[in-house]
Amino acid sequence: MNNINAAITCVHGVVPEKILTNKDLEKMVDTNDEWIVSRTGIKERRIVSGGETLSDMGSDVVKEICKKRGISPLEIDMIIVGTITPDHRFPSSSNIICEKSGATNAWGFDLSAACSGFIFTLITGQQFIESGKYKKVIVLGADIMSSIVNYEDRNTCILFGDGCAGVLLEPNEEGHGILDSILKVDGSGKDLLIQKYGGSAYPITNENVGDPNTYMYQEGKSVFKFAVTNMADVSAEIMERNNLTGNDVDWLVPHQANLRIIDATANRMGLTKDKVMININKYGNTTAATIPLCLWDWENKLKKGDNIVLAAFGGGFTWGSVYLKWAY
Ligand code: UT7
Repeated sequence: MNNINAAITCVHGVVPEKILTNKDLEKMVDTNDEWIVSRTGIKERRIVSGGETLSDMGSDVVKEICKKRGISPLEIDMIIVGTITPDHRFPSSSNIICEKSGATNAWGFDLSAACSGFIFTLITGQQFIESGKYKKVIVLGADIMSSIVNYEDRNTCILFGDGCAGVLLEPNEEGHGILDSILKVDGSGKDLLIQKYGGSAYPITNENVGDPNTYMYQEGKSVFKFAVTNMADVSAEIMERNNLTGNDVDWLVPHQANLRIIDATANRMGLTKDKVMININKYGNTTAATIPLCLWDWENKLKKGDNIVLAAFGGGFTWGSVYLKWAY
């Protein structure tokens, strides 16, 4: 029997310095602070400036993880990047981050799963560690949503922010680490949350430059219904099959899309609010970065052996939950 688990042994995050508040958005579109806070829980978000790129943030996270863990970037075997806003369509952001961070012995790739990007990369990284061949895998969740948000569309521009965070995965033989996961996709939801133009189906042409379809689009109300049901269902399912009650779970780390979706998931799991990581108020929805940014913000409060459930829902549709035992 394989007794190697993939465990998180370090976490770090980076957010841009520039803050975009609800008040700032009131000057850009027909919205107001009261509406945004009551419907979403968001007060402000971070936005890149001065040409900061996804690979800049990603390489800073990799370098800091290595520093905190006391290892050289040369010891990293792989870097997997969950993102829908890579620096370029190719080469992959992983490639560029390996070079910029000095992780020149590593290989890797980008993985596109929208707001489920981090849990999909985490479970992908887990497979490489559990194979026994890889000892140090960094998985990142990173998005620069400001690069694809239409700042004339009040339905979406108030929701999203930029950020990057990630974790180091290493083998663990003490029973800590990732213990279970449920990952799902449903392509029938593709038109409800999509950046329609810019891929090979609808390339950018002289005729469609500036068309709203070149930005991301979300049918908010419909996505809300799918998100609230599926994130709660998949979190309840992973608890049930691991014989966990609300008392056994120390932390829920939910994707930060909407405070109402987070509350519904926590209620369904029987968790009190003090066990739920919430930072949507200060970062908004950073897509693949929300879950690792929470882990980074809460790192000092986590204890070895804590039972943690991660849960996400995003475009595609993609969704899932992960059950892990904190390893340090
Ligand atoms: O992260 C990936 C997955 N994404 C999600 O999980 C997001 C899911 N969806 C949501 O979080 C919510 O649907 C939103 C926050 C996007 C919208 O909240 P809602 O309660 O579903 O509002 P709504 O779209 O039904 O709009 C209600 C009203 C509408 O006006 P009428 O038709 O009632 O007169 C909108 O036009 O609010 C209006 N509205 C706004 N008003 C002020 C929509 N956006 C805004 C705005 N400011 N920014």
